[in-house]
Amino acid sequence: MRHVSHDAPRQEGRTARTVASDRKGISRTEITTPEPLPEEKSAEASLRPSRMDEFVGQARVKESLQIAIAAARQRGEPLDHTLFFGPPGLGKTTLAMLIAKEMGVNIRTSSGPVLEKPGDLVGLLTTLKPGDILFIDEIHRLRPALEEFLYPAMEDYRVDVRISEGPHAQTIPMGVEPFTLIGASTRYGMLTPPMRARFGMVERLGYYPAEDLQQIVTRSAAILSVRTEPDGASEIAKRSRGTPRVANRLLRRVRDYAQVRADGSITTEVAQAALSRLNVDEYGLDDMDARILQIIIEKYDGGPVGLNTIAVAVGEDAGTLEEVYEPFLIQQGFLHRTPRGRTASPAAYRHFGYTLPTTASGEQRSMFGDDTGG
Ligand SMILES: Nc1ncnc2c1ncn2[C@@H]1O[C@H](COP(=O)(O)OP(=O)(O)OP(=O)(O)O)[C@@H](O)[C@H]1O
Ligand SMILES: [Mg+2]
Repeated sequence: MRHVSHDAPRQEGRTARTVASDRKGISRTEITTPEPLPEEKSAEASLRPSRMDEFVGQARVKESLQIAIAAARQRGEPLDHTLFFGPPGLGKTTLAMLIAKEMGVNIRTSSGPVLEKPGDLVGLLTTLKPGDILFIDEIHRLRPALEEFLYPAMEDYRVDVRISEGPHAQTIPMGVEPFTLIGASTRYGMLTPPMRARFGMVERLGYYPAEDLQQIVTRSAAILSVRTEPDGASEIAKRSRGTPRVANRLLRRVRDYAQVRADGSITTEVAQAALSRLNVDEYGLDDMDARILQIIIEKYDGGPVGLNTIAVAVGEDAGTLEEVYEPFLIQQGFLHRTPRGRTASPAAYRHFGYTLPTTASGEQRSMFGDDTGG
């Protein structure tokens, strides 16, 4: 498998905020951010599953992919255009690589923000051999002109190359080999409907349960040759905010600690001591998670409060809050979406050491909403 990459530096989402430092000079935000840290690239590459059966969890997604791959191979056709979306660090890029491997084709990667003009896409598309994969990361950030340029390529394996400028610009159609576009996005809501409609498969990746993360930690520990007791791996898994990238990062940090302060193996005690030094709390909440919950509790009495109000208060875009931060808080049971807005759960009050508000009659107010509203 050949893998050509020209990645853009990540500019979006969680990176655009201030990082609060703790007493020990290590920022909790940085240690549990689901975005890759700049120095992590090679470490990630070595831990990336190289076969589909090493890819832990996401059973439903894996199954649909395996069926689609087998069918496409039988027919000798390229795989349908596929879109992966979900929060950072859950395995979108990994799956794209694994698909290329299983299909036995080359993958070329690029990303929405690096592609500037149709020529950039022509360059990529014309080098593809039949069945090859073009992977476009952060596809929601593709410029509209490029998006439109991509449509005929996806539908008819044809691009319309402009040969002159101006209002009566002439274009000539040019064929490209049948290929598969794999798009990845952390922001499904920012994809245009025509773009979404052109993907034959759309798969959402969700947060991993602790058991899956424990399996990932155990596998990574074996690759890094560090002895890890099951309870030690489980301790790391529980604090990884449902994200394999975070689990692998915590494992590397705990390994350092185990090597320097213990006999090198990761036991429960070693994992706990290392993680509390790193200020990773038992849920792996980060700075922004904490601010969201504290604002709802302190300023709005636990809610309900509207998404946009929270967005203004924490200084983050409402869409990012909704698609990147809230899913984790909801999954952890700290936040509820109700038809009238967001509410902080009793668990959130307890976690931050607030006392639950009481109603006039002296009863504890129920703050449980249903998670259906938006
Ligand atoms: N299911 C999995 N099993 C084992 N390891 C995984 C799994 N998913 C992700 N990983 C590990 O987590 C790391 C991050 O995964 P990946 O780069 O695929 O995430 P991503 O969804 O593309 O993130 P981003 O949105 O930041 O691009 C990888 O290096 C890989 O080792
Ligand atoms: Mg990725």
